[in-house]
Amino acid sequence: MRSLAALCLLGVAAAQPLPTLPEAPDEAPEAGVVHVALEAAALPDPTHGYVYGFNGASPGPTLRARRGDTLVVELTNRLDTPTTLHWHGLHVPFAMDGVPWMVDPVAPGETFVYQFPLEQAGTYWYHPHFDTARQVDGGLFGAVIVEDPADPTPPDQVWIADLPLEHDPSAARPEHGHGRLSDAWWINGAPTPLTWAPPAGVVQRIRLINASSTGYLALPALPGVRRIGGDQGLLAAPEAHGPWVLGPGDRADFEWRPVDPAVWASDPYSLNGGPRWGDPWPLVEVTPQGEIAPQPMIQWAFDEAAPSPDGPADLLYVLSGSDRSGHWYINGERFPEVTIHELALGDQVVIEVRNLSPTHHPFHLHGHAFEVVSVDGVPPPHRRLEDTVDLGIGQTLRVRLNATNPGDWMAHCHILPHAEEGMMTVLRVLGE
Ligand code: C2O
Ligand code: CU
Repeated sequence: MRSLAALCLLGVAAAQPLPTLPEAPDEAPEAGVVHVALEAAALPDPTHGYVYGFNGASPGPTLRARRGDTLVVELTNRLDTPTTLHWHGLHVPFAMDGVPWMVDPVAPGETFVYQFPLEQAGTYWYHPHFDTARQVDGGLFGAVIVEDPADPTPPDQVWIADLPLEHDPSAARPEHGHGRLSDAWWINGAPTPLTWAPPAGVVQRIRLINASSTGYLALPALPGVRRIGGDQGLLAAPEAHGPWVLGPGDRADFEWRPVDPAVWASDPYSLNGGPRWGDPWPLVEVTPQGEIAPQPMIQWAFDEAAPSPDGPADLLYVLSGSDRSGHWYINGERFPEVTIHELALGDQVVIEVRNLSPTHHPFHLHGHAFEVVSVDGVPPPHRRLEDTVDLGIGQTLRVRLNATNPGDWMAHCHILPHAEEGMMTVLRVLGE
């Protein structure tokens, strides 16, 4: 393992404390409505490589609400380019989805009000969907936390991970998201490793978001840590065994009871083939404080339902392309020249996604969550709801989709340079 001493010899500054992200104040007087204001603007002092932020910082403030609330977000665009907000993982009406497809983006100087009910509890995030790789890499992203009123509420923390190289316009950056091997993760706007000194023995909920446009986190298990949540709220059953791989756009919630000092590191992982040689990258040095007797782990309301049966596919998406060409395809087509597949409202379909390319692709669909029914023909042990699923090289994923939300929904790779170079299509759910 790369020791901290070695990092110091390399001139890396001593670890700083893991920053806590600010939360956007709720300006709504009434209960059941969370009303926040976000201003997208260039940062006055982009010394950290972030060039843009919301309300003066990157990541932007965390938006926190409860399931059943209505979220109202007033976005003012102070950038010199159009922008939008997309609500990654949330079932919003199409007009609120923030895609510049039949809906205009928010022009410089303008304000747009996003408003929608929050029906899903879990860990979500917001980011622009206009000139997406550049704007997200520039620092425009933040967390949306939807609490479930039925959940236990241990202290919770939001950790947004991403890669600084992507934020530095001057850094030599390989094109097309090509297998860049930097692991220099940042969390909550600060370079790792970061120190975290939680009270010993106290159970916490860590909500981790991979906001990187190309990087994979591969997190080994640690004593006292189990994964309890994924893209769509609580998992069907907790996972005590890592490694937990989070591709771009993925989220994971961990129940964490820190007792002994530990270092949480990300194993080297490449979109060109998964695990690879190299040293783990230390993310967080945990030093529990005090002499508190360990609390019991929480009894979460896991719903250990069996997965839906696998079945023949109604719709096939084939992912192809290569770093060499810099072109990426779904069914041989590049966005926006794509065939729009149509579903009727209420259709229940199985979508098969096959990765015939030589790299991984985190497949993401807007407007709906979907259920994973098999990966290479193998069903998951429990019901598994997702909105972003990584496909390894040669993998075949089958998901079940209930078409409940009318609109033109983007389906794309969440390696943002891949999406930009064509790996995006549109799935249309017709209205009544
Ligand atoms: Cu998080 Cu279409 O994106
Ligand atoms: Cu991709």
